[in-house]
Amino acid sequence: MTHGEAKRPTTTDAGIPVVSDEHSLTVGPDGPILLQDNYLIEQMAQFNRERIPERQPHAKGNGAFGTFEVTGDVSAYTKAAVFQPGTRTDMMIRFSTVAGERGSPDTWRDPRGFAVKFYTSDGNYDMVGNNTPVFFMRDPMKFQHFIRSQKRRADTNSRDKDMQWDFWTLSPESAHQVTWLMGDRGIPKTWRHMNGYSSHTYMWVNSQEEKFWVKYHFKTDQGVDFLTQQEADHLAGADGDYHQNDLFQAIERGDHPSWTLYMQIMPFAEAETYRFNPFDLTKIWPHGDYPLIEVGRMTLNRNPTDHHTEIEQAAFEPNNLVPGVGPSPDKMLLARMFSYADAHRARLGGNYKQIPVNSAQVPVHSYSKDGAMRVDKISDPVYAPNSYGGPEADPNLTGPPPGWHTSGEIVQQPYTKRRDDDDFGQAGTMVREVLDDAARERLVSNVAGHLLDGVTEPVLKRAFEYWRNVDADIGDRIERTVNNNR
Ligand code: HEM
Repeated sequence: MTHGEAKRPTTTDAGIPVVSDEHSLTVGPDGPILLQDNYLIEQMAQFNRERIPERQPHAKGNGAFGTFEVTGDVSAYTKAAVFQPGTRTDMMIRFSTVAGERGSPDTWRDPRGFAVKFYTSDGNYDMVGNNTPVFFMRDPMKFQHFIRSQKRRADTNSRDKDMQWDFWTLSPESAHQVTWLMGDRGIPKTWRHMNGYSSHTYMWVNSQEEKFWVKYHFKTDQGVDFLTQQEADHLAGADGDYHQNDLFQAIERGDHPSWTLYMQIMPFAEAETYRFNPFDLTKIWPHGDYPLIEVGRMTLNRNPTDHHTEIEQAAFEPNNLVPGVGPSPDKMLLARMFSYADAHRARLGGNYKQIPVNSAQVPVHSYSKDGAMRVDKISDPVYAPNSYGGPEADPNLTGPPPGWHTSGEIVQQPYTKRRDDDDFGQAGTMVREVLDDAARERLVSNVAGHLLDGVTEPVLKRAFEYWRNVDADIGDRIERTVNNNR
């Protein structure tokens, strides 16, 4: 209650005024508590049910609300309403770490989640990305194993660097992402000082039904900045919610952070002959081949007032794609198109899309009905096709499904190899051509620090080899640093 507001009497959840906020109902001041103390029972029962399951990965995070405004003209590439020139769309975002639990420190070294929900005039569009443009693997069969290797052991219930490096060194396709993670991008200074990427390739479709392959890059207008390992270690103890607090306070004081969205756009037919598989999530597309094209600006200007209902219960799903945007043959993306909604049904219940933060800002005319906690009413007819004026699908609103031609034997195999498909090439280029001497030195020190924290043979030897495959010199330096400090 703010100063000057009328007093509000406490009530039960049924709205009935209560006698006391402080004393339970007893037989005499010293007597036993009575079962008919409905308010006390309601307080205890509600409290016992306050926690919902945390997200499996990305459990720790916070977010904010804002606006996305289109400043460029990409109408030649997509018909999506949200990307048409001049359009302004309400959006919300949740930033997160991946491996830690809900109370874990914000400054642990980890990729960061960058999940955006656009409340568009064609329904909700979710862009569920990270602060890195690549990922640890290219086949979803390995994702669950990867996340377990980053979380806790069965016996000690602790995280374990040996387990992390065991998985990574047995999964050489992780090298590019691990190079990002062990470098400066692995601990952003704040949420405001990092970029966001779709990482995956998606499809865009224009009003002539022409198709393009695209990647999203949200570049921070605050500038990219990072914390050193020492700064991050200090903050992990001093202020575990450092990033959460920074974002909240910035928005509170009117310092509204923004990001400019750029796209890389590849003509549809070029994917077939490009020198490496453009759908491989462990690879970036060189900007020399596909330069950044400006689309618009996202500005965060409103904090949640209730973290639980507005952020913890937010449900992002890569399958929420609007007309003009489609998936690509990236196997990781296609698996994610199932996984998230399944996670939400388990975490929040089948009717999670009725939670206000997840609700579309346009009328919803689906045939979903009933189920636990249903609050939106449905009216007859409850089936389609029908003769009674129920909703009817209109392909003119969507165009044909945004697909591609495919055929082949049913197999369980890696992607077909192309000339420049490999595991270490882009990681090596990054080390040699993107990092400067100081950044390379921090990379060596960060990796060596990790390896010295409990990594044992045979994993340790494999880790030196892994880094020598990225870059011979960096591998030697890591091995020397570890051996000199053992
Ligand atoms: C969260 C699965 C790869 C970004 C999650 C969640 C699941 C999941 C189950 C928890 C959802 C929830 O309970 O709300 C998977 C699977 C993957 C995969 C199966 C690969 C096959 C990726 C990749 C990215 C990513 C490649 C980024 C490009 C995120 C983000 C969140 C998340 C940002 C947190 C969303 C939020 O803030 O609520 N993932 N994930 N994931 N994932 Fe993934």
